[in-house]
Amino acid sequence: MPTIPSDSASHQARQRTNALLPGRWNAVRELPMVSHAHDNPELARTYDRVSDPQFEGGQRLVEGLALEPGERVLDVGCGTGRLAEWMATRTGPNVVGVDPLPERVALARQRAPNLRFEVARAEELGAFADGSFDAACLSAVFHWIEDKARALAELARVLRTGGRLGITTRAAELQRAGTLAEVLVPLLRRPPYRDHATREASACAATLTEIVTLLQQAAFELRELHVIQRRRWHPHGEDAVDFYESSAFGNLLSVVPEDLRPRIRADLAAAFETRRRPAGIPLLDYGVLLVAVHR
Ligand SMILES: C[S@@+](CC[C@H](N)C(=O)[O-])C[C@H]1O[C@@H](n2cnc3c(N)ncnc32)[C@H](O)[C@@H]1O
Repeated sequence: MPTIPSDSASHQARQRTNALLPGRWNAVRELPMVSHAHDNPELARTYDRVSDPQFEGGQRLVEGLALEPGERVLDVGCGTGRLAEWMATRTGPNVVGVDPLPERVALARQRAPNLRFEVARAEELGAFADGSFDAACLSAVFHWIEDKARALAELARVLRTGGRLGITTRAAELQRAGTLAEVLVPLLRRPPYRDHATREASACAATLTEIVTLLQQAAFELRELHVIQRRRWHPHGEDAVDFYESSAFGNLLSVVPEDLRPRIRADLAAAFETRRRPAGIPLLDYGVLLVAVHR
């Protein structure tokens, strides 16, 4: 597998993250790049339609935050705003969502015009004053963030002392255990993809040790940590590809050059089809849920 190309910004982000990690985690690990440039209106609409698994995971996460009426909540990486809208039914309209993808923020604004949504990355929350939130959540987002240390420093800044932070994310240790890796990794090792794939995975998941270490270094005290197993059924292989591609905002198939994308889409759908059972195509993912408090 060729090595991952590294633009200087993402390389520096990785160095910053790793520089904060002690001992053997101090080496710069080559994490894949995440692009915000592959999204489009159709992918955003598809995500809105197929994102029940993330929405349900987000609802479970929010239960752990024990939100009270009137609390100010920041939904980081809010996507199309489904979870923010749901949180507002508990807290009232003090819920703010941010996401770097303008198409998804546009859908969120249409969905909940009474809430504030901004285009922003977790690493740059400059639109918000120090201590301006009681709680924040990152539902299915943390593995997409390249500069995790900076994002957590920003979250610590905008949360008040005692503010709660909820995260659901993939963990590097569990990445290979899910259906997507089982299907995609062998495919990318075969021709014609073997000679063209620029990277192997589609997100920059950190290990659990890294996540916990980064939380501690950003002055968060870990209160809860759970491994989550997510199983769902898709009616056909194409539908499973739509789910992963829209969840990855175009970063899944962009590992190969544009002219190979229709082919890898078809091959991936066919590979999912080989797993068909009477109820459909089973997909299994593992992730983690963390709740921490800002000291
Ligand atoms: C799988 S979606 C989850 C969306 C939503 N939280 C949900 O639960 O449905 C991942 C989201 O992370 C967002 N994201 C990617 N990089 C980000 C970053 N650096 N800061 C904040 N959000 C980011 C993407 O734009 C995308 O909307």
